[in-house]
Amino acid sequence: MDPITNPYAPGAGQRPPELAGRDEQLRTFDVVLERIARGRAERSIVLTGLRGVGKTVLLNALRSSAVRADWGTGKFEARPDQRLRRPLAAAAHQAVRELGHPRADDVDQVLGIIKSFALRDAPSGAKLRDKWQPGIDVPAVTGRADSGDIEIDLVELFTDIGGLAADVGKGVAFFIDEMQDLDPEDVSALCAACHEISQSGLPVIVVGAGLPHLPAVLSASKSYSERLFRYSRIDRLPREAADQALVGPASEEECEFTPEALDEMYAVTAGYPYFIQAYGKVVWDVAPTSPVTAQDIRVAVPEAESELAVGFFGSRFERATPAEREYLRAMADAALVNSHEQQGDSPADEREAVPTSAVADVLGRKPQSLSPARDALIKKGLIYSGERGLIAFTVPHFGRYLRTQS
Ligand SMILES: Nc1ncnc2c1ncn2[C@@H]1O[C@H](COP(=O)(O)OP(=O)(O)OP(=O)(O)O)[C@@H](O)[C@H]1O
Ligand SMILES: [Mg+2]
Repeated sequence: MDPITNPYAPGAGQRPPELAGRDEQLRTFDVVLERIARGRAERSIVLTGLRGVGKTVLLNALRSSAVRADWGTGKFEARPDQRLRRPLAAAAHQAVRELGHPRADDVDQVLGIIKSFALRDAPSGAKLRDKWQPGIDVPAVTGRADSGDIEIDLVELFTDIGGLAADVGKGVAFFIDEMQDLDPEDVSALCAACHEISQSGLPVIVVGAGLPHLPAVLSASKSYSERLFRYSRIDRLPREAADQALVGPASEEECEFTPEALDEMYAVTAGYPYFIQAYGKVVWDVAPTSPVTAQDIRVAVPEAESELAVGFFGSRFERATPAEREYLRAMADAALVNSHEQQGDSPADEREAVPTSAVADVLGRKPQSLSPARDALIKKGLIYSGERGLIAFTVPHFGRYLRTQS
């Protein structure tokens, strides 16, 4: 069919033509916004899930909800090599501007505090020209949120921003993507600040998104984090929603899928949103006319798979060193053995974790000698450990991909 009207959108954080199967999260969030605006206690929110399930897209949709509710919002993506101050200050700056508080003096005061919070990032001995300047157009207000202790400073920052929001009967929401990549000290400070702010009833929340082990990262830092956050597991789409993700956008272009085509699509995508977009896109271009048939899907699959092999899987595999690649391949083999032992000959479900000892067995090595490779892969976000002694791919179907490569 006409590639120009192709509605599907594979890509990191790409807004899908139809956000299928996330109504519950969207509804819950609207309730949270309304409760906080009325001064009710609410927990901050953390979305977790594998690569490509739609965390970033959902985070953006929640942000849009907050904007529609007239909240001040800011968003950033955590990076392993970056501390919290600068990106958070930029997000706070934006959020305060969005609040549209009528009293300029009060706004400038808080912006000045955000500025000194950010400037604390520079080492104190740094020369003036090395000092990074936040793009905030007011003089820094010293003596608040700039002690250098990130925990104290964050509490003060949130308190002042929350006060400003409360003045105008609104709230502020910070959206943090790839939250598992925050520095441990920053995670700890963020938990403490959320704790403090929820006790004082100020209208500030954090909405985080990250890999499945993010709850473990948070609770390792503060034991009370389990009560602090509302965790929401973002998963592959159930059949009905997966169909809707394909059929909805197609019908806008007056195209249809046969029921058998939808069966075939679910068999290859397993309901993973990234795969739905990726296969959908190729299928659209390959299918000669509407309705799309099961045969069209079978024709499209090899091309879609080779695109995934380069873009989705290969680009990630290439980030691993030779020793790490060996570890990944051993995980893929161990997962296969694992699934055979558990379910006869049924195909391996890569979402199942494998014991790290099984990976060591595959390689004929001592588990301890593999820790550096494993830890580096966790840091690169390719694998995660949700439970002690177990390890799993963060990328759906990664094991299957690796097994086809060797
Ligand atoms: N609910 C949905 N319905 C249909 N398509 C979706 C949905 N959610 C996400 N997608 C599509 O899936 C793809 C991946 O989405 P997104 O980048 O948000 O995933 P992610 O979980 O943030 O992945 P990563 O962990 O790699 O950052 C995008 O192409 C997006 O358009
Ligand atoms: Mg993402």
